[in-house]
Amino acid sequence: MNELVEAIRQLKKEKNALIMGHYYQKGEIQDIADYVGDSLALAQQAAKTEADIIVMCGVHFMGETAKVLCPEKKVLVPDMAAGCSLADSCPADEFTRFVKEHPGYTVISYVNTTAAVKAVTDVVVTSTNARQIVESFPKEEKIIFGPDRNLGNYINAVTGRNMLLWDGACHVHEKFSVEKIVELKAQHPEAVVLAHPECKSAVLKLADVVGSTAALLKYAVAHPDKTYIVATEVGILHEMRKKCPHTVFLPAPSSDSTCACNECNFMRMNTLEKLYDCLKNETPEITVDPVIAEKAVKPIQRMLEISTQLGL
Ligand code: 13P
Ligand code: SF4
Repeated sequence: MNELVEAIRQLKKEKNALIMGHYYQKGEIQDIADYVGDSLALAQQAAKTEADIIVMCGVHFMGETAKVLCPEKKVLVPDMAAGCSLADSCPADEFTRFVKEHPGYTVISYVNTTAAVKAVTDVVVTSTNARQIVESFPKEEKIIFGPDRNLGNYINAVTGRNMLLWDGACHVHEKFSVEKIVELKAQHPEAVVLAHPECKSAVLKLADVVGSTAALLKYAVAHPDKTYIVATEVGILHEMRKKCPHTVFLPAPSSDSTCACNECNFMRMNTLEKLYDCLKNETPEITVDPVIAEKAVKPIQRMLEISTQLGL
């Protein structure tokens, strides 16, 4: 294992590559990454890196976002099959038809989408900035929000908006069990429930704090003296435990007890072995149709600009 880690470090240096990792990656990948973050932070880092190669340890849409932002760089992913059920719930042709059927609407898309969906979008958001970006539009603005119905419903509820929602969802966040979280809370009445806004509204109602992976982490770091029940992909517990070694973090249980369903099977496809191979062979490489990329980059850059203005 140590030899493999050393070999990855060596290759990275030789090739002037930057390894980025999402908080849902296996711990060993988070530990070797030059930068670990949420979807917004990964896009922000990609936009400003001087590396020649970006290795995106996350899922496909994260690699695509990096490629769209840095078309001149080589963007590699350890496993091309690492997709996202939420992005898959929004096929570009169907979404484009939906947008055309609603002229006069501003289109806001979650970053968990393909570049082709972003190409018909006015502004991209992540869970870190979605609320503020929606609120930056006038109250009467007619908005289509896709693809996550749970995040969309949550933003509608907290902002008093009535955005038209695409009916998509993430298979990991949809499966958190209200009953099992209530049971866990009964065993740990002092526990603070942290939840990602991709969870169903019934789970969000139980939550004390709703936020992106980065926001949940920030909250725990600021209040390390509490016990937490964490309703998001369990990989985030790695960084939480690293930053708060004396804090108790309990993963929220999934309603499906037949699998480790609070793990994202797509995120877990990446391994140290695949990371080594991908750096060595410079493949699999993300490519994006330049016509789509030229359209998709605008709403991503708009998000980055608004996020900078908002200090996010
Ligand atoms: P964050 O934007 O909070 O990192 O979430 C990304 C994601 O895929 C959630 O399932
Ligand atoms: Fe996609 Fe859900 Fe996995 Fe996040 S946790 S990458 S939304 S499938």
